[in-house]
Amino acid sequence: MCGIVGYIGNSQAAPIILDGLSKLEYRGYDSAGMAVFDGEKINIRKSVGRLKVLENLTHGGENMPGLCGIGHTRWATHGAPSDTNAHPHFNAEETIVVVHNGIIENYIQLRDKLISRGYKFVSETDTEVLAHLLDYYYKGNPLEAVTKVLHRVEGSYALGIVFADCPDQIFAARKDSPLIVGQNEDGCFIASDVPAILKYTRKVYYVDNYEVVRLRADHMHFYTVDEEEIKKEPVTIEWDANAAEKAGYEHFMLKEMYEQPKTVSDTLTPRVKGNDIVIEELNMTDEELKSISKIHIVACGSAYHAGMTGKYVMEGLARIPVEVDLASEFRYRDPILEKGSMVVVISQSGETADTLAALREAKAGGCKVLGIVNVVGSSIAREADNVMYTWAGPEIAVATTKAYSAQLIAMYLLAMKLGKVRGVISDETFAELLGDLKRLPDQIELLLNNKLKIQKFANRYIGAKDVFFIGRGIDYAISLEGSLKLKEISYIHSEAYAAGELKHGTISLIEDGTLVAAVSTQPALYAKTISNMVEVKARGAFVLAVTCEGNTEIEKAADYVIYIPETNPYFANSLAIIPLQLFGYYVAVGKGCDVDKPRNLAKSVTVE
Ligand code: F6R
Repeated sequence: MCGIVGYIGNSQAAPIILDGLSKLEYRGYDSAGMAVFDGEKINIRKSVGRLKVLENLTHGGENMPGLCGIGHTRWATHGAPSDTNAHPHFNAEETIVVVHNGIIENYIQLRDKLISRGYKFVSETDTEVLAHLLDYYYKGNPLEAVTKVLHRVEGSYALGIVFADCPDQIFAARKDSPLIVGQNEDGCFIASDVPAILKYTRKVYYVDNYEVVRLRADHMHFYTVDEEEIKKEPVTIEWDANAAEKAGYEHFMLKEMYEQPKTVSDTLTPRVKGNDIVIEELNMTDEELKSISKIHIVACGSAYHAGMTGKYVMEGLARIPVEVDLASEFRYRDPILEKGSMVVVISQSGETADTLAALREAKAGGCKVLGIVNVVGSSIAREADNVMYTWAGPEIAVATTKAYSAQLIAMYLLAMKLGKVRGVISDETFAELLGDLKRLPDQIELLLNNKLKIQKFANRYIGAKDVFFIGRGIDYAISLEGSLKLKEISYIHSEAYAAGELKHGTISLIEDGTLVAAVSTQPALYAKTISNMVEVKARGAFVLAVTCEGNTEIEKAADYVIYIPETNPYFANSLAIIPLQLFGYYVAVGKGCDVDKPRNLAKSVTVE
């Protein structure tokens, strides 16, 4: 989604803004722009397309001199990607300039009012109302104008604003869209995410909802929307800037896939104490854990797929009923949240608008919410009652891999903890499960090192039209994620089906040579899935099977088999997903797709 970077200080702003925006490219965008105050007036350059276009247009920022500026990468919501719709947006006199991430929901009413007062609009964006509304309220006091505007707008926003009258200041404000500010001895920064400014400072402040920041070259002041000054504590970012670089890999996605053994280990190890699992972040006694009568897992996309696996594992190991919902559905379906229910929201970014809204819905319904979140300090992390972090580090590729793997570990840990305190799992079984969990990082590494086999296979399917993924139980959850990985980065149509469901309609799509990837990691269901493989093979499908070592029986029904090492069936997802991620990746690379930044997608989906 849109990215914002701003700088005010003693250095040239434009190169810093371009550099920061390049670190936000992973969020997804279709145009980029920048506004810099040159000592007399504000200049804007913007263009549809990649940031490279803006870099060329401005000679790397050289032909936009000035010490104060704001920049933006836009992911179109209102109005198509175009030079005119790209941010920043000016008022008519070109004395106030705005960049915005989010959606102004009442922009039509505001626009109509402004038009009736003589304001003229040049773009189709919701953002432009902010520039004109600021103009309307600006009577010499910029803070007052900003807060008045915030009282009028509904929706979500992270804002960067510059007034030509006050070029020694940048204003920033936030509601429901991520925004941080930071400072070093040279100047102050605003950004949508930490990687944009990590090169310049590790000391950042997370701007909260309805907060306004006034940044000057040497200090920042924080205010409420009622202009009352507030004190905030900085957070020191511990992770390394290199973590957000490619480190020699062709793509972030490949690098992140290779980081999975570490991610899994980092998420697991701090919570394994001797022979036990201790999840301090739950802040719940064993008695409280025992009294949970139902769990709702709510998430979007891949995080939802991790939640689906969580359902099978929690119901199996802890015998607690689990409902899994897409956050965009949960928030509007008036869910029945009984006393004793716990709500678990899963999100890599911690900013997904639907997941955040679902969290609020659950809290309003009287439930305690546990957030399983990757980005420290994100909105979901701050609003959840308790947070269990997945220690995956920054994930830059739009398609998630390592954060998903970490989410699976969080699911297993919760399931085992609940299973133990509720007396469902014996000490002996618990110890065996723990042993299997600890082996996962090495087993994932092994699968990654055998990538050649899947790479060769993937090359054959670069021209595929449709690919189907099938599996039962946990294998269905794995299929959903495998299918999403393939389609989102390679643009090949793909669907995942519960293996037994295919014959209820979809099997009519199977033609000679259609690739069907059958995931079969659950010994109790081997025979059933083999029957479904035979059904599609009989109709001409080419069957790729992903199964566990030892299940050689499958070779009778499959055309190509990928074996995963032996583990407890509840943890098989963590292994089976690796060849499927690699498959999606190599098909996309073979097709020449922009693997890290697939078209139309955004890393952090901060709008509904
Ligand atoms: C797919 C992918 C998305 C996200 C989804 C939720 O590869 O990354 O489906 O999983 O947008 O995002 P978070 O986890 O940030 O809430």
